[in-house]
Amino acid sequence: MVKVALKEGISWVGVVDWNIRDFHGYVTNRGSTYNAYLIQDEKTALIDTVKNSFADELVMKISELTSFEKIDYIIINHVEMDHSSSLPVVAKLAKNAKIYASQRGKEALIDHYGPDFEQVETVKTGDELKVGKKTLRFVEAPMLHWPDSMFTYLVEDKILMPNDAFGQHLASSERFDDEVDEHVVMEEATMYYSNILMPLAPLITRKIQDVVAMKIPIEMIAPSHGIIWRKDPVKIINAYLNWSAGTSKNKVVIVFDTMWHSTDKMARAIADGIASEGIDVKLLKLRSYAISEAMTEILDAKAVLVGSPTLNNLMFPTLSSFLTYASGLKPKGKLWGFFGSYGWGGGAVRSMIKVAKEAGFEVYEPGLEIKYVPDNDDLKKCLEFGQQIAQKIKL
Ligand code: FEO
Repeated sequence: MVKVALKEGISWVGVVDWNIRDFHGYVTNRGSTYNAYLIQDEKTALIDTVKNSFADELVMKISELTSFEKIDYIIINHVEMDHSSSLPVVAKLAKNAKIYASQRGKEALIDHYGPDFEQVETVKTGDELKVGKKTLRFVEAPMLHWPDSMFTYLVEDKILMPNDAFGQHLASSERFDDEVDEHVVMEEATMYYSNILMPLAPLITRKIQDVVAMKIPIEMIAPSHGIIWRKDPVKIINAYLNWSAGTSKNKVVIVFDTMWHSTDKMARAIADGIASEGIDVKLLKLRSYAISEAMTEILDAKAVLVGSPTLNNLMFPTLSSFLTYASGLKPKGKLWGFFGSYGWGGGAVRSMIKVAKEAGFEVYEPGLEIKYVPDNDDLKKCLEFGQQIAQKIKL
């Protein structure tokens, strides 16, 4: 097996999940990795584990580097099962290992894997564990993105292991940012932030400020998914600061679905209206795009327009799913507009506006509804609707 060293005595023992395409609803077109790290000094420490379907591979990788009896510490930075579900297997083999987690991590481990984990030791921000010349320092990071989350910092090597933060769902045979296409890595990092960390923006800004205030030099960021930031860790820190500040540009994303192409025609005319004002516009039909892809486009947009045909006096189910997802992710500072078609009573636009207001979104009113099939006058109204939105975000 190929051995990957971050620095002397620090090995990647994670696995590559080449074929995962659905990560709890998030479309992972480029697969993912579950990264775990083995620190070998006077003591031996394992940082995180992997998804249990890959437990055998993790065990094999560790066995090539050490015997399980020699593992002294297992650090669990985060209990979500893509990282912890091999722990029961590893803990049985590593009979001499003490397990460390945050207080909430310990509680979550017991809730997931039972009373065997009642002996887990808890750590808090600033606590350290000496493994020889190397020191592990812990930084709690509650709600980034679970209550249990924490970071482990390798003091002498200046490596931050922040688990999910700064990750990407990206399968590759390379492990470091200087070995892969930078554009692809940033594309996946953007998607990851948009779909996992977006609702936690204020906490991210604060946590990064906390870490900066600790004055801990960071030469490398080794997250739990995707590639390791070795060439330019500041790049991803700055990207997170930018995203969590809600930085957006003159861009409108239109998310829609259609039954008999009426809403489709409306969406295209609205897009023309927006483009005629010199504003970047993206037109995403659900069923062609996944909701996780739509959220990624929305991250840096100033406005989101949502179009739906009326089905049984309500919005179309794909839009309902999208709006539920978007309500949970709470994109900051966007203007939301709604449009759609209907046959008799209407209802799609009304029901979408209701959901958006309940989510606390800023809604541009009124929405635009067209009966049956849009004629030229209707399409002119759509074009003007697009122009109004464009003018509003240019202000
Ligand atoms: Fe990658 Fe929150 O698990």
